[in-house]
Amino acid sequence: MLARKTWALVSAGLIAPCLGRIFENVSELPGNLEYDFIVAGGGTAGLVVANRLTENPKFKVLVLEAGVSNVGVLDSEIPFLLGNLLGPTVYEWNYTTTPQSGLNGRVLDYARAHMLGGCSSHNGMFYTRGSADDFNRYAAITADSGWSWDQILPYFFKNERWSPPADFHNTKGQFDPSVHSTKGITSVSLPGFDWPIFYHKVLQTTKELPEEFPFNLDMNSGKPLGLGWRQSTIGDGMRSSSATSYLAPEFIQRDNLHILIHAQVSQLVDASNVAGKIVFGGVQFFQGISQFTAKATKEIILSAGTVGTPNILMHSGIGDPNALKPLGIPMVLNLPNVGKGIQDQPFFQVAWSVNFTQTLESITQNTTRFEKAFAEWNKSHTGPFVMFGPTHIAWLRLDPDSSIFENFTDPSAGLDTPHIELAIAPGIGLGPLPSPGNFLSIGLAAVTPVSRGSITINSSNPFDPPVIDLGMLQSDFDLFTLREALKSAQRFFKAPAWQDVIIGPTQNLENITTDALDAFIRETVTPTSHLVGSAAMSARDAENGVVDPDLLVKGARALRIIDASVLPIIPSAHTQAATYAVAERAADLIKQRWM
Ligand SMILES: Cc1cc2nc3c(=O)[nH]c(=O)nc-3n(C[C@H](O)[C@H](O)[C@H](O)COP(=O)(O)OP(=O)(O)OC[C@H]3O[C@@H](n4cnc5c(N)ncnc54)[C@H](O)[C@@H]3O)c2cc1C
Ligand SMILES: *[C@@H]1O[C@H](CO)[C@@H](O)[C@H](O)[C@H]1NC(C)=O
Ligand SMILES: *[C@@H]1O[C@H](CO)[C@@H](O)[C@H](O)[C@H]1NC(C)=O
Ligand SMILES: *[C@@H]1O[C@H](CO)[C@@H](O)[C@H](O)[C@H]1NC(C)=O
Ligand SMILES: *[C@@H]1O[C@H](CO)[C@@H](O)[C@H](O)[C@H]1NC(C)=O
Ligand SMILES: *[C@@H]1O[C@H](CO)[C@@H](O)[C@H](O)[C@H]1NC(C)=O
Ligand SMILES: *[C@@H]1O[C@H](CO)[C@@H](O)[C@H](O)[C@H]1NC(C)=O
Ligand SMILES: *[C@@H]1O[C@H](CO)[C@@H](O)[C@H](O)[C@H]1NC(C)=O
Ligand SMILES: *[C@@H]1O[C@H](CO)[C@@H](O)[C@H](O)[C@H]1NC(C)=O
Repeated sequence: MLARKTWALVSAGLIAPCLGRIFENVSELPGNLEYDFIVAGGGTAGLVVANRLTENPKFKVLVLEAGVSNVGVLDSEIPFLLGNLLGPTVYEWNYTTTPQSGLNGRVLDYARAHMLGGCSSHNGMFYTRGSADDFNRYAAITADSGWSWDQILPYFFKNERWSPPADFHNTKGQFDPSVHSTKGITSVSLPGFDWPIFYHKVLQTTKELPEEFPFNLDMNSGKPLGLGWRQSTIGDGMRSSSATSYLAPEFIQRDNLHILIHAQVSQLVDASNVAGKIVFGGVQFFQGISQFTAKATKEIILSAGTVGTPNILMHSGIGDPNALKPLGIPMVLNLPNVGKGIQDQPFFQVAWSVNFTQTLESITQNTTRFEKAFAEWNKSHTGPFVMFGPTHIAWLRLDPDSSIFENFTDPSAGLDTPHIELAIAPGIGLGPLPSPGNFLSIGLAAVTPVSRGSITINSSNPFDPPVIDLGMLQSDFDLFTLREALKSAQRFFKAPAWQDVIIGPTQNLENITTDALDAFIRETVTPTSHLVGSAAMSARDAENGVVDPDLLVKGARALRIIDASVLPIIPSAHTQAATYAVAERAADLIKQRWM
C-alpha cells in the first residue's frame, strides 16, 4: 500500500526523477560500448569501485545494473518504511531457497535487491564492522596483511562519513569519535529519535547486569563485545546507500562514468588463453530481449553480489566441471570452489509485552500517529521515521566452559569476537503482532555459524534463478548458540530495571525442554541476508578459493571480483561495512595496477 503511495508521488511529479548520467536504454549511451573497465552489478560494492576508478578522468567506466533506479523511491529513502521494499516487489530478485533440512524443510524467501545501490538500498542499515580478529583472520587466510584490521581501518574511514543524528541530540558518551571518520562518503549516525523510557532502562541494565551486558562505548572499535548504541547508515534522517552516496550529484556528473540500468549481464565472452591465463574480452548483457556485448580494455569487475557473481561465473564456464558439464556449459576455467561454502547467520525474534505505550506499536498500530510521523519526516526529516527497529545491540560470547566446545573448536576469529548478537528494539518491527498491545523485542542471531551452503545452477539459461542452499542450522553448534542467545535475552529482561513494565514474554520458551526449544527454533529461524563466501579469497598459492588476495580470479587475467562473495568466512557482524571496506581497498589495488 505504501509502495503504491510512493509511485503516486513520483508520477504526480512531486519527486523529480532526476537521473543524471544514469542511462535507461543502451541506445542512449554515448560511444561504442568500449570501456577501460566494466563493472557488472551496480550494488553496494560496484558503485564504490565505479566512483573511485572515475576519480581518474582517463578511466572510462561502464556499470551494468540489472535492476531499477533508486531515485525517487521514497520507501528506500525513509528508514522506517524499508519493509515495503521486501517481499515480491520491483526492487527484488524474488529468490527462494531450496528446502532447508535444518529448518524442517521450509523454503524461504531470500532477499536480494534488484535496484541501483544493491542491498544497501533496501537493507536494515545496521552499521557494524565486525571484530579486529575477523580481519586479522582474513589476513592470515590470504597471507596478505593488507586485509588485517590495522590496514583495513583506513578503508572503513574512506567509506564512512560520521554524521549528526537526525534530532541533533548530544551524542557524548554514545560513541568513540577516535574510531570514526567524518570525511568519507556514506553517512553513519546514531539513533535520531528519542524513546526515553526504553533508552533509560536499556542503559540501566548495563549497570545492573554488568558481567553479562557491560556497556561498550563503541562496538565499531574492533572490540565489539558488550552492549552499545546502534550505528546506522543514515544521514539527515534518510537512508545513505551506495547509490545515494557514491552516485551523489558531484560524482554522477563525471563524463567518464556511465551507469546503465535494466541491463542484466548473462556471461563473460571472448575468452582467450594468454600465457596460460584466461582473458575475457567482454561482457554479454541483455536489455529486454536484446543482446549486447560491451568490451573492456583494462579489466572486468564482477560486483553482482554473493548470489549474482557465482551465477555469472558459472554461466561463463567458470566453476566445478561436475556442475557445469551436465548442463552443457563449455568449461573455460576449472575452479571447483565457485559457489561453495557460503554462509549466512540464522536469526529469530522474541518479544515481551509491556504496559507502557512508548513503543513502535504506538506508531505502526495508529493510523493518525503514522500519518503524522510521515508528514513530519516529509517536512523536516525528523521524528520516528528517521530510523527503524533496534536501537542497541549486545554482542556476546558463549561461556568458554560450554559443553558444546567438547564437540566443536571455537569458530570465532578470536577472544574479542562475539558468537551472539542481541538486537534490542523498542517494539516489534516488521511483521504482525501476537496480540494488540505494546512490546519490546530482541532479534537473536548466531553470528559465527558453522553451517555452510552453496550457490549452484540447474539450467544453462542465465535468466533462470540460481539454486540457493543456505545449509541453515546444519550444524548443532549453530542451534546451541541460538539456545544460549535466547537464555541471554531472557536474562536481559529479568534485570530489575524492567520489572515495573514487563507483563511477560509473548511465547513461553522458558520452562520447555531442549527438544521443544530446538523444534521451535527450527520452525522459526530465518536468514539475516548477510550471505558471503561464494567466490572466496585465499592465499595466492592456495588450491582452494576463487580469487587471490588482490581479488583477481585464479587462473584468469584482468578479471576481478569485488563484493561480499570474496569474504571466506562471515564476519561476526552485519556485512555491509565489510563490503564497503573490501570495495574501497580493491579500488585502490586496481588503481595501483593501472598507474
Ligand atoms: C533485506 C536485507 C537486510 C540487510 N540488512 C543489513 C544491515 O542492516 N546491515 C548490514 O550491514 N548489512 C545488511 N544486509 C547485508 C548487506 O546489505 C549486504 O551484505 C551487502 O549490501 C552486499 O553488497 P554486495 O555489493 O556484495 O551485493 P549487492 O549490494 O546485492 O549488489 C549486487 C548488485 O548486482 C546486481 N546484479 C546481480 N546480478 C546481476 C547481473 N547478472 N547483471 C547485472 N546486475 C546484476 C544486483 O541487482 C545488485 O544491484 C542486508 C541484506 C538484505 C538483503
Ligand atoms: C531502447 O531504445 C530503442 C530505440 O529507441 C527501442 O527500440 C528499444 O525498444 C528500447 N529498449 C527498451 C528496453 O526499452
Ligand atoms: C519480483 O516480483 C515483483 C512482483 O511480482 C515483480 O514486479 C518483479 O518484476 C519481480 N522481480 C524480478 C527481477 O523479476
Ligand atoms: C492514536 O494517536 C492519536 C494522536 O496521537 C491519539 O489521539 C489516539 O488516542 C491514538 N489512538 C489509539 C487507539 O491509541
Ligand atoms: C510531502 O510534502 C509535499 C510538499 O512538499 C506534499 O505535497 C506532500 O503531500 C507531502 N506528503 C506527505 C506524505 O506528507
Ligand atoms: C557431543 O557429541 C556427542 C556425540 O555425538 C553427543 O552425545 C553430545 O550430546 C554432544 N554434546 C553437545 C553439547 O552437543
Ligand atoms: C532448479 O531448482 C529449482 C529449485 O531451486 C526448481 O524449482 C527447478 O524446477 C529446478 N529446475 C530444473 C531444471 O531442475
Ligand atoms: C505496569 O505494571 C506494573 C506491575 O506489573 C505496575 O507496577 C506499574 O505501575 C504499571 N505501569 C503502568 C504505566 O501502568
Ligand atoms: C519458569 O519457571 C520458573 C521457576 O519455576 C518460574 O519462576 C518462571 O515464572 C517460569 N517462567 C514462565 C514464563 O512460566
